[in-house]
Amino acid sequence: MAIDYQQKIPNNVDLGTDRRLQRALEHWQPRFLEWWRDLGPEGFMASDVYLRTATSVDAKGWAEFGHVKMPDYRWGVFLADREPDRTIGFGDYYGKPAWQEVPGEFRAPLRNLIVTQGDTEPASVEQQRLLGQTCPSLYDLRNLFQVNVEEGRHLWAMVYLLHAHFGRDGREEAEELLHRHSGDPDNPRILGTFNEPIDDWLSFFMFTYFTDRDGKFQLKSLAESGFDPLARTCQFMLTEEAHHMFVGETGIGRIIKRTNQMMADLKTDDPETLRKAGVIDLPLLQRYVNFWFSSCMDLFGSESSSNAATYFANGLKGRPDEKLKFEDHVVADAVYELEVPNGVEGPTIQEIPMRNAMNDIVRRAYIDDCRIGLTRWNRSIKKAGFDVEITLPSPHFRRSVGPWAGVHTDPAGNRVSAETFAAKASTWLPTEADRAYVKSLMVAVTEPGKMAGWIAPPDRGINSQAVNYDYVRIH
Ligand SMILES: [Fe+2]
Ligand SMILES: [Fe+2]
Repeated sequence: MAIDYQQKIPNNVDLGTDRRLQRALEHWQPRFLEWWRDLGPEGFMASDVYLRTATSVDAKGWAEFGHVKMPDYRWGVFLADREPDRTIGFGDYYGKPAWQEVPGEFRAPLRNLIVTQGDTEPASVEQQRLLGQTCPSLYDLRNLFQVNVEEGRHLWAMVYLLHAHFGRDGREEAEELLHRHSGDPDNPRILGTFNEPIDDWLSFFMFTYFTDRDGKFQLKSLAESGFDPLARTCQFMLTEEAHHMFVGETGIGRIIKRTNQMMADLKTDDPETLRKAGVIDLPLLQRYVNFWFSSCMDLFGSESSSNAATYFANGLKGRPDEKLKFEDHVVADAVYELEVPNGVEGPTIQEIPMRNAMNDIVRRAYIDDCRIGLTRWNRSIKKAGFDVEITLPSPHFRRSVGPWAGVHTDPAGNRVSAETFAAKASTWLPTEADRAYVKSLMVAVTEPGKMAGWIAPPDRGINSQAVNYDYVRIH
């Protein structure tokens, strides 16, 4: 169904035919806008930003671009088209018709899944609200705001499900999604990482590369859900999400490109010399990768989880690409070999029911996906003539959740003592000096086409515009 932009709330769900639901969402809309003005990107509400807006939900040519003031962005409710006769693709209900309404017995767990996903969307906008003030270029500023408005749209996606399918508690949860705030000591966001501010652009690119990719895999799992409205909602969110990871991958790639140029010019890879020249040395970048990757490992939950098993058994949350990548969709008695710590020695294999290992299966798929960008970055370092490789740390490194929580390993995953970990931490993870140095580079560059000195220009602009296009007209 086409998106109706004549309505107060743009949508492709025929909202006009359900007056109750329409009124409830129209009641929530001004609160959302109030939240956006209070906690959205600070200082740019009057600026005209070259943003894309969804015009349809099929993957090709689904968006249109134009300058808009962010508070006028048309946030709405867009679901992928309904697949006729869709059946549940996994678990105990495999092959049964997908649910169009919430099954009573799964109401609470489904609501929790939706609320947890929904909470991360506005949280990331809040975390990033000050970044605009130190943008490395107008191109980057526009990309930041594109990501921000779409995370706002993802909040709408989850709020729609809550309002449409969960009655009174759904409406209450929708309110709470605007009341919890990232970093608020009394009322924080649900997941720990989403309470840390992201106030430098290296962290922003790491976030969009690693943390948004976690989001992608959560959405891919939910896009398999037997609860059809949730599946369709997540399918369209994934279309939007691809750009967020593009921002991360190309952002880090451009930092590396700039550093490569400087290393070639100065004929050195010495971090001190490179810092004097105002670029980001690769060991520092590696420490940021170690930090962000390891904190994302925890977002998938424990390696062995009875909750994950229940979600799978009940058809609520599947595996990414369930149909394409797996043959056994019921997984009734399959076994999974899980690496667990063994005394002070390295890992040992423990066999657990496959259904309990769903978090780890999703985590592994995520890790494979993370490698793609690293391969590109490493190719560019090699091409520039340097013998350095950016690597992903072991999934056991620096964990706070699951069997590896609190177990000390080096980034390669070898067990080390607490003393060794403490002594080496400054070579493995960002130090205060690293963070201070990165902060010192953060100075706004807002002349069209100009770039901050620590990042190379992008290969091309957005939507075939030139790199020096005025992506944001700041007022
Ligand atoms: Fe999102
Ligand atoms: Fe995202």
